[in-house]
Amino acid sequence: MRAWRVHGYGEPQDQLVLDDVPEPTPVDLAGLGMDLSGWVPLAEGQAPFTDWVLLRMTAAALALPDVTMSRGTYPVPVRRPYISGQEGVGVVVDAAPGRRDLLGKKVAAVCIQPWGSLAPVSVGISSIFEVPDGMSDAEGAAFVIPAHTAYHAVHRRGQVQAGEAAAVLGAAGGLGSAIVQLCVAAGARVIAVVGGADKVAFCEQLGAEAVDHAAGDPVPEVLGRTGGRGVDVIIDPVQGVDGAHLRGALRVEGRHVLCGHAGGLVPHDPHFYLRNHTLVGTTLGGYPRDEMVRIHAETHAALDALLAAGRYRPLVTRTVGFDDVPAALADLAARRTMGRVVVDIAGTR
Ligand SMILES: NC(=O)c1ccc[n+]([C@@H]2O[C@H](COP(=O)([O-])OP(=O)(O)OC[C@H]3O[C@@H](n4cnc5c(N)ncnc54)[C@H](OP(=O)(O)O)[C@@H]3O)[C@@H](O)[C@H]2O)c1
Repeated sequence: MRAWRVHGYGEPQDQLVLDDVPEPTPVDLAGLGMDLSGWVPLAEGQAPFTDWVLLRMTAAALALPDVTMSRGTYPVPVRRPYISGQEGVGVVVDAAPGRRDLLGKKVAAVCIQPWGSLAPVSVGISSIFEVPDGMSDAEGAAFVIPAHTAYHAVHRRGQVQAGEAAAVLGAAGGLGSAIVQLCVAAGARVIAVVGGADKVAFCEQLGAEAVDHAAGDPVPEVLGRTGGRGVDVIIDPVQGVDGAHLRGALRVEGRHVLCGHAGGLVPHDPHFYLRNHTLVGTTLGGYPRDEMVRIHAETHAALDALLAAGRYRPLVTRTVGFDDVPAALADLAARRTMGRVVVDIAGTR
């Protein structure tokens, strides 16, 4: 099969190679374990990883980790070469014994390196969900990671309440726009902090107010909109200098929920304690596997209810062909995308 693989380090448009590689098979998976960096040769005493399905892919979503993995700035080192892509939709063509009930079904799943989702055949693991009725393959491909991460950040970790004011950085991005929708659905007042008029308009359509950081310092603007008090919570997929700076618009005893690092990881100013701020870390990867599966199931049930009520929707703003992946990732790296960009893989071999 032809798959988009990364061999070296640098910008994805320079590093991605359309390689001819064998399709993954159950024999390949039988001798491997799983850790945070992906599929790994078994360490002494480690059990093989047996919670997988083989997928004939129809669609895959692009996301910033496709860029940071290629650059080598993703927080977990990823062995080379690997197939890029972290999630997508496919039909289950084979499965581990405990997952054979899914054979023939169309599912949305997370795919872990080296078998990323930008290939005609990939491997979905653990938190695998049937694509709900009425959801397109493109929407399904853009569903699991943004929605589950956002739900985890907004509810379990961020404890966002109705009536609170929440600032969201990177709010027009894939994860950011999911956070905005869930905060709005929770009854919070949302102030999106984004760069550019098109992103302001995009977030306003989702029910947020929006501040354009490209037009000036967002801190006085957010303070002004909250009567000088500041927001109750910042939900932050960006961090870096911009994330730290926005704490100037966080009220005393406010929470800064750190759920991504699009702007990089910088050391935290220890003076946050002087305003009784709470820094909250949030990622789905950090739990023991059983607990993660349980959290995903609970989250999925809550998201299903929001989908059914029309209060949440995967936001696919563009669909591209398989050959257009490097150009689309160059747009993503340059902050020119909104919501998710999805790759049509159906029919690619
Ligand atoms: N915690 C978890 O479990 C988890 C799960 C999924 C993703 N993530 C992380 O969440 C972050 C966002 O991922 P995503 O796929 O949603 O990204 P995305 O769609 O590209 O959106 C990221 C947004 O961040 C802003 N940004 C600020 N500095 C940036 C920079 N140097 N490069 C690119 N964007 C920058 C941009 O907004 P403006 O231009 O409007 O400022 C951009 O729209 C990533 O760090 C990813 O690794 C974490």
